Amino acid sequence: AAIKTYNFDIKVANVSRLCHAKPMVTVNGLFPGPTVYARDGDNVLINVTNHAQYNISIHWHGLKQFRNGWADGPAYITQCPIQGGRSYTYNFTVSGQRGTLWWHAHILWLRATVYGAIVILPKEGTPFPFPQPYQESNLILGEWWNNDVEEAVKQGNQLGLPPNMSDAHTINGKPGPLFPCSEKYTYVMEVEQGRTYLLRIINAALNDELFFAIANHTMTVVEIDAVYTKPFTTNAILLGPGQTTNVLVRAGQAPGRYYMGARPFMDAPLSVDNKTAMAILQYRGVPNTVFPTVPVLPLPNDTAFALSYTGKLRSLNSKEYPANVPLTVDRHLFYTIGLGVNSCPTCLNGTQLTASLNNITFVMPQVALLQAHYLGIKGVFRADFPDQPPTPFNYTGAPLTANLGTAKGTRLSKLAYNSTVELVLQDTNLLTVESHPFHLHGYNFFVVGTGVGNFNPKTDPAKYNLVDPPERNTVGVPTGGWTAIRFRADNPGVWFMHCHLELHTMWGLKTAFVVENGKGAGQSILPPPKDLPTC
Ligand code: C2O
Repeated sequence: AAIKTYNFDIKVANVSRLCHAKPMVTVNGLFPGPTVYARDGDNVLINVTNHAQYNISIHWHGLKQFRNGWADGPAYITQCPIQGGRSYTYNFTVSGQRGTLWWHAHILWLRATVYGAIVILPKEGTPFPFPQPYQESNLILGEWWNNDVEEAVKQGNQLGLPPNMSDAHTINGKPGPLFPCSEKYTYVMEVEQGRTYLLRIINAALNDELFFAIANHTMTVVEIDAVYTKPFTTNAILLGPGQTTNVLVRAGQAPGRYYMGARPFMDAPLSVDNKTAMAILQYRGVPNTVFPTVPVLPLPNDTAFALSYTGKLRSLNSKEYPANVPLTVDRHLFYTIGLGVNSCPTCLNGTQLTASLNNITFVMPQVALLQAHYLGIKGVFRADFPDQPPTPFNYTGAPLTANLGTAKGTRLSKLAYNSTVELVLQDTNLLTVESHPFHLHGYNFFVVGTGVGNFNPKTDPAKYNLVDPPERNTVGVPTGGWTAIRFRADNPGVWFMHCHLELHTMWGLKTAFVVENGKGAGQSILPPPKDLPTC
């Protein structure tokens, strides 16, 4: 194992897209930011120095940070933010993980521009469980705003409304040729005919699930969220914000230029899209004057494709990479996802849109929760998050008022060390047009079941896949449906869980788990690093 050191300088740089130049927060002046490379077993040290006007923190999305929440990064959950002029070194060891993950700012909406890829290779000498690709490439899907994102969010909040949406999607920070002034802002990946490539695809968008397809080329899915899958071939893939997917692509077509496109999945009957990002897969030797072939992307409302695609995802579950699904459950949790309206004295019309789990809208604390838990500071949070909604109702058939007037609070659920947990996330809202991509920090979980309508505790568990369910860190809860996940609470700490649509996170669709220490050696939270930022 090696030590990998990176310096991340948070600084404002001028970036121009769609004929609009704007100053924005970046890492080392790059957009997207630098890729972090490591091997399973490596110790990674990332020294973050903040030269910007905003407080910042960085999250290493999908890294489990075993006993080491201090390096996880969500502001006010595991650390206080890094203030202007200050530094903090994220110090973690990759243990038992390899694949594609990513990092992003975890405060305000700064992840709009502050993000990058994490590539973890297997231990030296360990091959991939699929044919060795000739080369590999990262494709990070994101969004571009012509305006300053934080300003847009502030204005929206004053009105109690969502901010303006982004102006384009991007691939590796580039929207591609469908947008003005974008010819030079088109990502081109050169390939050699007959070779097979590994694409590491990341959805870093703030608020959109995205379809991705390559004209005339199929993709073989081999990994999701840094977990190997049973390979299958598909014309298009779907990623929620936060999710990653590795695919193998063979450059087996006639030499040419082929568009690779990313467009949102909205799950609504009348959704329109004018933000499709395009990159180009270009065979070596083909001149730039050749017009690229256009891919067939699923339509923005193609729910059938989305369900059939996610239904094909399975853990590899081989001898080397077994799926250790918890077969028994110590603790059953059932959380309803609500979107509603709350009163807001500071908003222009006195109300604002909010989101809730079990009718609780999460309120961010002033002190980091992990610190409060570790040091026993009272009054920062309550460990009484309800295991069930306050009153059961017809979740997917009730009027919208079922979600109105939620209670606000910084309430967490406490999990016993090494207990097995099943969490059913039940959507309730009739207004939402997207599935909710739920992300749990500190863990991977198994997606044992999903369905439309109300979860039925009598009949649905009998249909669970407990053999080779997909294992991941972010999962979509379908519109008007439910998703059941299982995990073993073997990583002590305080771990954030939230919808990875930034809008919904901001509205309060989040909570955290306090996982207690075990009694044995190596079963408790590590001591905090000396340079941990203070609030
Ligand atoms: Cu990718 Cu809590 O975030």
